[in-house]
Amino acid sequence: MLTYSLTLKIGVGQMPKQQSFGKNAQYSNDKNARQHMSIVKVHPEVKEVLSKFELPEEVGFGKVMAPIMIEADYADGKWGPIELKPYGPITLDPTAKVLHYAQEIFEGLKAYKTDGKGPFLFRPDENAKRFNSSAARMAMPDLPVESFVESCKVMTAYCSEFIPPNSGETLYIRPYMFATEESLGIKPSEKFKFLVIASPSGNYFASGSVTVGIERDAARATPGGMGAAKTGGNYAASLLSANQAIAKNCQQILWLDAVRHERIEEMSGMNFFAVIDGKLVTPALTETILAGITRKSIIEIAEAEGFQVEEKTMIIGDLIEDIKSGKCSEAFACGTAAIITPINALQESDDTQYKLQNPEGPVAAKLRKTLIDVQEGRKEGPNGWVVKINPPV
Ligand SMILES: Cc1ncc(COP(=O)(O)O)c(C=O)c1O
Repeated sequence: MLTYSLTLKIGVGQMPKQQSFGKNAQYSNDKNARQHMSIVKVHPEVKEVLSKFELPEEVGFGKVMAPIMIEADYADGKWGPIELKPYGPITLDPTAKVLHYAQEIFEGLKAYKTDGKGPFLFRPDENAKRFNSSAARMAMPDLPVESFVESCKVMTAYCSEFIPPNSGETLYIRPYMFATEESLGIKPSEKFKFLVIASPSGNYFASGSVTVGIERDAARATPGGMGAAKTGGNYAASLLSANQAIAKNCQQILWLDAVRHERIEEMSGMNFFAVIDGKLVTPALTETILAGITRKSIIEIAEAEGFQVEEKTMIIGDLIEDIKSGKCSEAFACGTAAIITPINALQESDDTQYKLQNPEGPVAAKLRKTLIDVQEGRKEGPNGWVVKINPPV
C-alpha cells in the first residue's frame, strides 16, 4: 500500500520546452489559472480525506475512486457554487428525471504524470466544448468552459500525489451532469447536478490488440438521434451487443449505420481507423458518430508525420475485401481510454474472422508513440494541447 500526505497549495504552470512537434508548438500558459482556482470552493474536510487515502498497488481501470469530488447544482436558470468536497454518495429524489428519462451527459479525460513529469491534462477545453454540445442536444444548460476546465484542473492538482507513475497509467477524470428535478412529467428538467469524480487507473485493455465483432443487426445511433452526444443512452443501447460480443471472445463491437447496415461508424467507446494502401482512413463524422478528441488529434499528428489521411464514408463490404486482399494492412481503435489499440481481426456473428495482416502494425505503433509522448510530456504538442498542473506543495 502506498500512502501520501498532502498540503493544499495548487497552481498551474508552463511546461518546459522539449522536443518540437508541428508548427507553433508550445505549451499552454494559463496566466489566469490561480484566479480561476478561486471559482472552486474547497471544503475543509478535503485535506483530511486526502491524507488518509491509500492507493492500492493494483488499480485496474475506473475501479479505484479518488476520495474527493467536485459538485455544483443548477436551479432557477443559473449555476450555484462549484465545491470540492469528500467523495461520497449523493441523495436523489426517486422522481429525479435522470432516473426516468435519462437526461444526462458525461465526459472522460486523463491526467498524465510519468517519469516525474506533469501532471498534464490533454486538451481539456475540447472536452468542455463537447460537453456543451452534448448538453445542447439533451436540452440541458451550458456549463461555462472555464468552470469545466477549472474543475478538472482542481481535481488533478489535489489528486496529483496518487496519479500512478507508469506510462499508460493516469488519473481518469469523469465530469458529468444529470437532471435532478423532482417530477414524472416528460419535459426537460429545470434542475441539474454537475459532478467530477476521478479514478487513478491503469491501461483500459489488458491485451495489446483487440478482436472486434461486426454488429450487423442492432443499432447504436440513428439519423436524427443523439449518437453524436456523449449521453448515457447511447451506451445503454450498446450493452446487449457488448454481451453477445464478449460471449464470442470479441472485446469491442463495430457499429454500422442504422438504416442500411453498410457504413462503418465507430465502436461503443472509441473511433475507428484503418490503413488502406498506406493511407490512414477513418469514417467522416456524421450525426451518428461521437467526434473523438483522440481521433482529431491523431489526424493532426499523422499529417504532421507525413501520412496521407482521408475522412470518408467507409463501407464494411469494401473494408472486408481490402483486408482479404491485403490492401488494408492495419486497423485500430482510438479514444481517451483506448489511446490507440490495434485490431487483430474483425469477426462476424457466425465466427468468420477477417484477420489483419499487421495486428501490431507500424503505423498504429508510430502514431501511438507520438500521441503518448505528447500526452506524457516527453514531446511538445501543438499550442494548448498539453496543460501543466502544478501539484500541491
Ligand atoms: C462512443 C465513443 N466514440 C468515440 C470515443 C473517443 O472519444 P475521445 O477520443 O474524445 O475519448 C468515445 C470516448 O469518449 C466514445 O465514448
